[in-house]
Amino acid sequence: SDMAVQSATAGGQPSGDQNFDYMFKLLIIGNSSVGKTSFLFRYCDDSFTSAFVSTVGIDFKVKTVFKGDKRVKLQIWDTAGQERYRTITTAYYRGAMGFILMYDITNEESFNSVQDWCTQIKTYSWENAQVVLVGNKCDMDAERVVSCDRGRQLADQLSLEFFETSAKENINVKAVFEKLVEIICNKMAESLDKQDPNQGVKGTKLDANTTQKPPSQQCNC
Ligand code: GTP
Ligand code: MG
Repeated sequence: SDMAVQSATAGGQPSGDQNFDYMFKLLIIGNSSVGKTSFLFRYCDDSFTSAFVSTVGIDFKVKTVFKGDKRVKLQIWDTAGQERYRTITTAYYRGAMGFILMYDITNEESFNSVQDWCTQIKTYSWENAQVVLVGNKCDMDAERVVSCDRGRQLADQLSLEFFETSAKENINVKAVFEKLVEIICNKMAESLDKQDPNQGVKGTKLDANTTQKPPSQQCNC
């Protein structure tokens, strides 16, 4: 699958600030105050602040990670959860290869909105976009109103990967991005195999890889 993924980038990039093999555009979406900005800051800067500064419109950060020996440049867009910015933020869905759809385990309303956010993805992005459902603030167990089981059930129902996380305590933040990069790479390899008429056994093997989800993921909190 490494070979297939490589050919998708048409020979990689020149050196300098274009120093990467692939670039993935990712978006973090979900209701206001669920912790999207905090999650991004934890991942990119390893910082956290308890002050709430609601995002205006949209912002992004860049982080380069390694997948095997390949440099993957992640362009991560942090969207405003507030309804009034919806027209602006949905304009950025186009071309996104992956979404982190976040709710707050202490906020029922944010969980109830997950289905609507999924519809937004279906409406404004392309069909191959990969999505990870994230229940954030799992450090706040005393205030929890959404159980890990309900989160996992919804994820299964919507065929999404699922994690509970804490931007504050740095729980599963890196794991979410790693999973997203992995499933995007699998999807790329799979669609390349479909295009190639000379694929036999290999195509079958890759399909099995991408369609086989682990039965029910362990709750990580
Ligand atoms: P919008 O920009 O309005 O869409 O909100 P947002 O989703 O970006 O939320 P933000 O990251 O600004 O976080 C909202 C509040 O939740 C802030 O006060 C954060 O400090 C807090 N917060 C974020 N993540 C966590 C977490 O994992 N645990 C706890 N305890 N608090 C968190
Ligand atoms: Mg924000």
